[in-house]
Amino acid sequence: MQKQNIEIIKDIKTVLEFYQAMGIERIPLNIAQKCRSAEVQKPPPHPPLGKGGRRGGDYSKKVIALKALRDEIGDCQRCKLSKGRKNIVFGEGSVDAEIMFIGEGPGEDEDLQGRPFVGRAGQLLTKLIEKMGFKREDVYIGNIVKCRPPFNRVPEEDEISACSPFIRKQAGIISPKVIVSLGRISTQTLIGTKIPIGKLRGKFYQFENIPLMPTFHPSYLLRNPKDKWLVWEDAQKVLERLKK
Ligand code: URA
Repeated sequence: MQKQNIEIIKDIKTVLEFYQAMGIERIPLNIAQKCRSAEVQKPPPHPPLGKGGRRGGDYSKKVIALKALRDEIGDCQRCKLSKGRKNIVFGEGSVDAEIMFIGEGPGEDEDLQGRPFVGRAGQLLTKLIEKMGFKREDVYIGNIVKCRPPFNRVPEEDEISACSPFIRKQAGIISPKVIVSLGRISTQTLIGTKIPIGKLRGKFYQFENIPLMPTFHPSYLLRNPKDKWLVWEDAQKVLERLKK
């Protein structure tokens, strides 16, 4: 068999394994066509982050800046979400992350543990991160609001206004190569629009000079698993952008 064909088969296998891991049972026809034309690419291997970080000597400055930001937030009472929270979920991951994932706000598990995306939606996000060729600790994960909205309702305008300056500052400090905004609230807040997520996803926007890729929220995918392949398409575009 020609070497090129072997590479194509390997690519298809990688994609199919990804779909299987994400719980997809059927492949839409246009994906199958893409596989045939070998447009779907295998995630590139990512070199481990070296001490000192991907951009050299910024590492300790970033750690100090994030610590100062956490101190500034303190025992925050800036909005009514503070009343019901158990923990502030600041965000976590590598300060030198190439990719930053930004969700909406903590759910019950996140509130209890003080860590972002650790519940069912978080497990799905972690699978996506790993299929993209990263470890969870290589990326940075945060949310638009840092306290759990009651009964997991959508955060309200005043809560978003009070809290979103902090995730903006976190993005500025980490300065990732790409931001992935997860779902409507995150995307609309970061790019300042009311356009529905279904229309926004899959195209790059700018967040303060950082390319931002909107995609569906993992919680949406838990309810609509047939759309997982669209998120994988968005992820492929992010991986392409990282090569530039
Ligand atoms: N959903 C979010 O938007 N963020 C989390 O941290 C968990 C679930």
